[in-house]
Amino acid sequence: MISNKTNKIKAAITAVGGYIPEDFISNRDLEKMVDTNDDWITARTGIKKRRILKEKGKATSFLAANAAKDLLNKKKTDPKTIDLVIVATITPDYHGASTAPTVASEINATNAYAFDVNAACSGFLYGMSTATSYIESGRYKKILLIGADMMSSIVDYTDRSTSILFGDGAGAVLVEPSANNFGWEDEYLRSDGVGAQWLKVKSGGSLYPTSKESLDNRWHYITQDGKTVFKSAVSEMANAAEQIIKRNNLNPEEIKYLLPHQANKRIIDATAEKINLDKNKVLMNIEEYGNTTAATIPLLMYDYEKEFKEGDKLILAAFGAGLTWGAAYLTWAYN
Ligand code: COA
Repeated sequence: MISNKTNKIKAAITAVGGYIPEDFISNRDLEKMVDTNDDWITARTGIKKRRILKEKGKATSFLAANAAKDLLNKKKTDPKTIDLVIVATITPDYHGASTAPTVASEINATNAYAFDVNAACSGFLYGMSTATSYIESGRYKKILLIGADMMSSIVDYTDRSTSILFGDGAGAVLVEPSANNFGWEDEYLRSDGVGAQWLKVKSGGSLYPTSKESLDNRWHYITQDGKTVFKSAVSEMANAAEQIIKRNNLNPEEIKYLLPHQANKRIIDATAEKINLDKNKVLMNIEEYGNTTAATIPLLMYDYEKEFKEGDKLILAAFGAGLTWGAAYLTWAYN
């Protein structure tokens, strides 16, 4: 359990930005690519479209920089005042070089240092843990955290079990010392490497460097054991959210919204049911974007920012490759 209740400085999200590409692949488009249909995808996942970055020469840094620029413009923040840029992603522009420095240069955050966090669909939560700790310690004052993934770069569009799920996008938040004592209240984060086998890109890492064999076997694409991932996602997201709710003595009634990772509407519904949360408190945009991995939770904040009021009690929950998962409790810090 984090101990920020006794620390003087509390960290808060003070601005939100987002970017989603205009191009998309609809369920009807997928019908022409793999053996699937709109009714099945809608009923089994809740997804209708997934946004795709199609422009040649553009990658995750482009999505992330656009989300960051949107935030900086809205908040009228000088990028030179940013201390640290963190990009949560599993689809960096390059292996061997973090994407965050590219993003920092692109947005002119010339006084910042920058690095990536790789925790797949839990990347935003893990990134928030890092960013809030730096703020609470007093070491830094302005941190830009961006969840960004260009999933279309690792999706096999001949595989109907993954191509229906993933999309591209980026969401950004600014994390600063709280001015009103609202902000990051608590987090519960876990991981289990035994489950790495169930959801991964097999090649391109140090265990299976890219080779003719890896290419022939299509190991450079994301693969999963859908059923196992589904069951683990429901039980771990619900358990993490329950832990957070219990140890902060929250009633489901006083929770304003749950912002769950957007992997599958049925995972979200089952998680909400397990923690007895009313359906209208569960935020979703999966229908339009699909699963954008590290971007889903900040993109929910981007889409629903106007609904949030100072002091609103929000629960975040995520589950992803690694395996990684967790939940967090925050009080929204601005109107
Ligand atoms: N289109 C049409 N039919 C499909 C299909 C598709 N894309 N995929 C599977 N089917 C069929 C299967 O062949 C099977 O048919 P059968 O009953 O005649 O054998 C039936 O639909 C059910 O297949 P199943 O694999 O049990 O589907 P499912 O309900 O488990 O849904 C996923 C598959 C991938 C959507 C689901 O398992 C899932 O969302 N898993 C979690 C994935 C995830 O979230 N990954 C990222 C985590 S962060």
